[in-house]
Amino acid sequence: MDRSWSPSRWRNLPAEQQPDWPDQYALDQALKTLSLLPPLVFAGEARKLQAALAQVAAGEAFLLQAGDCAESFHEFTADSIRDKLKIILQMAVVLTYGAGVPVVKLGRIAGQFAKPRSSPTEVVDGHALPSFRGHIVNDDAPTEAARTPDPGRMLTAYHQSASTLNLLRAFTKGGFADLSQVHTWNQQFVARSAGGQHYEALASEIERALQFMRACGIDLRGEASLQQVEFWTSHEALILGYEEALTRRDSLTGDWYDTSAHLVWVGERTRRLDGAHVDFLSGLSNPVAVKIGPAATGDDVVRLCDALDPGCVPGRLTLITRLGAGKVHSRMPRLLRAVRDSGHPVVWTCDPMHGNTFTGAGGRKTRHFDRVLTEIREFFAVCREEGVWPGGVHIELTGDDVTECLGGIEEVLEDDLALRYTTTCDPRLNGSQSLDLAFQLADLLRRR
Ligand code: PEP
Ligand code: CO
Repeated sequence: MDRSWSPSRWRNLPAEQQPDWPDQYALDQALKTLSLLPPLVFAGEARKLQAALAQVAAGEAFLLQAGDCAESFHEFTADSIRDKLKIILQMAVVLTYGAGVPVVKLGRIAGQFAKPRSSPTEVVDGHALPSFRGHIVNDDAPTEAARTPDPGRMLTAYHQSASTLNLLRAFTKGGFADLSQVHTWNQQFVARSAGGQHYEALASEIERALQFMRACGIDLRGEASLQQVEFWTSHEALILGYEEALTRRDSLTGDWYDTSAHLVWVGERTRRLDGAHVDFLSGLSNPVAVKIGPAATGDDVVRLCDALDPGCVPGRLTLITRLGAGKVHSRMPRLLRAVRDSGHPVVWTCDPMHGNTFTGAGGRKTRHFDRVLTEIREFFAVCREEGVWPGGVHIELTGDDVTECLGGIEEVLEDDLALRYTTTCDPRLNGSQSLDLAFQLADLLRRR
């Protein structure tokens, strides 16, 4: 670890995408309050996640990272947290049972509130307004007042993350994630879909297998791995003041951990090597990740690896490619080769969402299920050609029956987008599209 690093060193470097907080005193007060609040996660948990990711790096497990594009202060209920967990558990079970690989479950949840924007302003009904930057910064309502950054929102984000994490821990350790509940994760509207029925059949097979083991005299009640699930949290470390305030020295090791989540990542827009975000992540002992877009060269990626994983530690660094369907064959092989030659034991994972966004009829941002699936297939193909383990996927989804992404077996059409389009930022796969995707992924993994 670089001894000159400190959680505030980023302040001397160019920091992109930071809000223009209008009231310095209010900002200082909010950050001071945050820095005195308890950590959200414990350093030992982050080390456990890193060990799980080391298994992924070794080709022995698969990473499923999924959740909202942006969590919302307005849609914050026990049901929405439960339903997001349900769909992730369903996808994980499809992958584990269907492909026989352990699945590391990592939510984009309990802290995923900040959004990088391509422009600081946007025009709504002829008026230029500050862009919406996620509920940790401002509100999405199209008024000047709503869009003014409010540092008090960082405290709200902290408290919402704490309650979300509390419920996730209760669900995953308290019986809800018990494998004998595999049928109950299938929600009504999903159960009616083709994917939902496919899932019902798989759940019945799992129940039969559990019954068989019980009949053989195996006491399944003693098997924690059947009754509890390890579920980890992650978000983009974008608002560095917030992340700094939650970065604490671990009393056991003396190392610095960002206790706002188990894993944090740097986005495509803030990953410049000499910038504040990469510097901030470089000093953390959490596992970290970086998004890699189509303009990245092999050299860029190796330099990021050197900055973020100088010790070549398995599980420390995950590279999330988001190249866009049709660009994977031309861009990715040279990245894979450059990183392999550099010796960094990274996890390679595919975000098939952010390179495939377009504006549909009616002006709504959308993505087509087929393009999402195509990018994943291309990712698997290139990994196979290069002899690299396709370590995982990074998906924006919700358990709800939204109409935000086009396509899928229960096809969402352009005209349907207006029906239930509730995302705070980017379009998400709905419950049945997510399940369809999991079955397709299980096929791809099995074919390896
Ligand atoms: C995101 O993950 O929501 C995001 C903004 O991604 P990217 O940095 O890849 O554009
Ligand atoms: Co997004």
